[in-house]
Amino acid sequence: MPIINRVAEFHEQMKEWRHDIHAHPEIAFEENRTSDIVARELESFGIEVHRGLAKTGVVGVLKNGDGPSIGLRADMDALPIHEANEFEHRSKHDGKMHACGHDGHTSMLLGAARYLSETRQFKGTINFIFQPAEEGEGGARVMIEEGLFDKFPCESVYGVHNMPGKDTGTFHLRSGPLMAAYDTFQIRVRGRGCHAAMPHQGVDPIVVASQIVTALQTITSRNMDPIESAVISVTQIHGGDTNNVIPDGVFMEGTTRSFRPEIRDWLEPSMRRVVDGVATALGAEIEFDYLRRYPSTINHVPETAIAAKIAAEVAGDSRVTTDTPPVMGGEDFAFMLEKVPGCYLFIGNGDGEGACMVHNPNYDFNDEILPVGATYFSRLVETVLAA
Ligand code: NI
Repeated sequence: MPIINRVAEFHEQMKEWRHDIHAHPEIAFEENRTSDIVARELESFGIEVHRGLAKTGVVGVLKNGDGPSIGLRADMDALPIHEANEFEHRSKHDGKMHACGHDGHTSMLLGAARYLSETRQFKGTINFIFQPAEEGEGGARVMIEEGLFDKFPCESVYGVHNMPGKDTGTFHLRSGPLMAAYDTFQIRVRGRGCHAAMPHQGVDPIVVASQIVTALQTITSRNMDPIESAVISVTQIHGGDTNNVIPDGVFMEGTTRSFRPEIRDWLEPSMRRVVDGVATALGAEIEFDYLRRYPSTINHVPETAIAAKIAAEVAGDSRVTTDTPPVMGGEDFAFMLEKVPGCYLFIGNGDGEGACMVHNPNYDFNDEILPVGATYFSRLVETVLAA
């Protein structure tokens, strides 16, 4: 089956929402205008609206008799990127841009909300979850901490993300880890500055930092089972001002990615051991800070099977990949999947015009997949909450 006819009838309206939101991007926890639009539209469909979770979060509740409850989630935030596109709906806010397609995710979930409120071919409760601050700030975590699943209990939860470079409207998912855990670290090396010609009079933090960078790589290459996967990337090193002075200190920063929670838990102490060990051996002092940001996005088996079945109904079997390779990027829907079973999947944004990768100043969400996502969400509800 393809796209639900009634959903196709409001393709134009979904495009209008999408272009309006795209032209007025708002970044983490500042999604005031966007959440006003979401709340206004949900209310116009007769859906009960709750605001204020995680500042700008919106939850719409649509109940139709007694039955199970389901959560459908969209993210609303933009990125601090200056848009390079010149089309009519380009960003009106310099330095802010919907470069990840959250404008599209919000619009497709609004489309599903409109269809489901009109047709009500389900029994139970739908929670439409519009979250702020997916990009690095963990809006999903904040909504949960503020009581999302206590106030709006969900027996399962589902989310989607567009994926550039994959054929328009194709579905890509897998059970188990789909996206990586995302953590960050900072290392401050304190040596003792001195004349560059007399290094024996000080402790050179640049030599220490260099050894730390290479020693850290032995964690993933020598200490971890090669069948597992993880990345440790040092992405910044700052130290020194000129060519004849050994500085006092060096600052380093970076990120780790991993899939299995056991590996994630093991990375921090392993890094601490290496960093402390190298510093001690070379006579420097260390400050090591490790920040756990997003867990890995781990799809649950039964919900992934349901999502795959619906995806095949919408797109056709040949356009659904159920063993798509995991992605090293992070996603804060992971926090929801830690609390409630569910599935997160990708919908192809196109490999022609839609191929520009997300987080790029030339990216745009592909409007052709608005009815695909809206139909997927709608059919999911009509299946999981079958009347
Ligand atoms: Ni995104």
